Amino acid sequence: MQKKILPHNILTKNPSWGLLKKHYEKIKQISIKNHFDNDSKRLDYTSFDWGDFYVDISKNKIDRKGFELLIDLAKESGLAEAIEAQFSGAIINSTENRAVLHTALRSLKKESILVDGKDIIPEIYSAQKKMFAFCNQVISGDWKGYTGKSITHIVNIGIGGSDLGPAMVVEALAHYQNHLEIRFVSNVEGDHHVEVLKGLNPETTLFVIVSKTFTTQETLSNANSIREWFLSKLSEQAITKHFVAVSTNHEKTEAFGIEPDNIFPMNDWVGGRFSLWSTVGLSICLAVGPDHFKKLLHGAGKMDLHFEQTPFEKNIPVVLALLSIWYNNLYGAESEAIIPYSQYLRSLPAYLQQGVMESNGKYVGRNGKPLTYQTGTIIWGASGTNAQHAFFQLIHQGTKLIPADFIGFKSSLNGNIDHQNKLLANFIAQTEALMTGKSEAQVMAELKNSSLAEKYHKDLAPFKIFLGDKPTNTILIEQLNPENLGALIALYEHKIFVQGVVWNINSYDQWGVELGKQLASKVLNDIEGKERNLHDPSTLKLLSKI
Ligand code: F6P
Repeated sequence: MQKKILPHNILTKNPSWGLLKKHYEKIKQISIKNHFDNDSKRLDYTSFDWGDFYVDISKNKIDRKGFELLIDLAKESGLAEAIEAQFSGAIINSTENRAVLHTALRSLKKESILVDGKDIIPEIYSAQKKMFAFCNQVISGDWKGYTGKSITHIVNIGIGGSDLGPAMVVEALAHYQNHLEIRFVSNVEGDHHVEVLKGLNPETTLFVIVSKTFTTQETLSNANSIREWFLSKLSEQAITKHFVAVSTNHEKTEAFGIEPDNIFPMNDWVGGRFSLWSTVGLSICLAVGPDHFKKLLHGAGKMDLHFEQTPFEKNIPVVLALLSIWYNNLYGAESEAIIPYSQYLRSLPAYLQQGVMESNGKYVGRNGKPLTYQTGTIIWGASGTNAQHAFFQLIHQGTKLIPADFIGFKSSLNGNIDHQNKLLANFIAQTEALMTGKSEAQVMAELKNSSLAEKYHKDLAPFKIFLGDKPTNTILIEQLNPENLGALIALYEHKIFVQGVVWNINSYDQWGVELGKQLASKVLNDIEGKERNLHDPSTLKLLSKI
């Protein structure tokens, strides 16, 4: 059925899979601590210095041989060809007949990239030029609203990739933000846009409607309601100074009433969840200005080069992806936690939920056949140290294996050494605690030194034991700046792709979101009394309650 642009290598049919499984059976009971004891050179192949990044994957339940077999698996999966195909603009998103070229938006190479025989680099530059010029005008105050006032507030109207990426990055780069206040509205729930509009002056507000397709129910409903609100205060002619759009769909955008000059183009070779690098990042660019936006692109471009050019065993996205496969497909781990030790990055887990779960939540392989193994990990998390006081109990002493990524920054942005030292102490102590745990002997010794009467020690001890041996990756970065953030996001993008290749799925379509959308429009007709559709008994009863 599908064009075979990427190889169709079923995970379990690769020769190294059998060897990997055997090896897993052999070492699965060996603790991480023992792996350190058994191999004094462990850190040589499990830690990586790359630019401002230090990545430590040593605290994992795997040995050198296991890593080697994972690298073999990546090779047998055709990963090298797949990376080449993606970066060169091959139609690797075969189920949507599209190239996948978010990397072209930040390419540091001077080469042309052809899509349908046409070099896309000039159009990328021209879209960026238009976006940068516009942002400079708005930031400087030269762009005047209809009544002659400068813009003070921006409202990004979008959902999914047209919201999560821009919102996460604007929040992450708050330290670099100018005077413009950026708000985001995504949910179709009417209360959301009402809250977002609170206190806004239409004369000084710019609305950025972001929708790749310009058909998304939530975004169009919000855009229409906000336009009504706007028109109740200013005239139709004022729209041109206060509404701009980012979309591939110029026809629908113009039909909505957006001036052609106010449309920022994007292309169908950029997937929604990978689109913050494109004009979808307009709100980011408005918040931090073109220079910082260019640095964000530059950081991602550097990570792209690392991913494209580094041997797999030293390739950070590749090794992180393979470890994730190790836990998902051999240990049966269902989820992964992402814990950024930075309040600025508190929305990174939510952003990566779309990136990972919309990309790799697939049960059909690239050959169109159902898979016989697990794909797509469940992503969740929150910022440390808050997460420690919320769900870390379950990671430390629960029954589930939850590999976790710890992301931290060596220096803080505001220079408060006392707080930063405490933050870093927690950041490092947690991964150590998760690995080493606390034995019964340690617990008993602690209780002996406590004020608790000795007769209670034995009963209490089991509750205070930590089994440890919980795997973590540590990503330590110099400082949170646009360039390092760009590289970090690109790292996760590539990790997603590697997993998709090895699992033999297409990471770049998202048919799984369609059925709910279709049924919602049918159910809407039921709710509005326009149709009486057939439904199951549960749904009919629910409808009767509305
Ligand atoms: O819900 C699926 C999805 O297509 C996402 O992939 C996308 O990011 C989001 O909807 C928004 O789509 P659009 O930008 O076309 O409004």
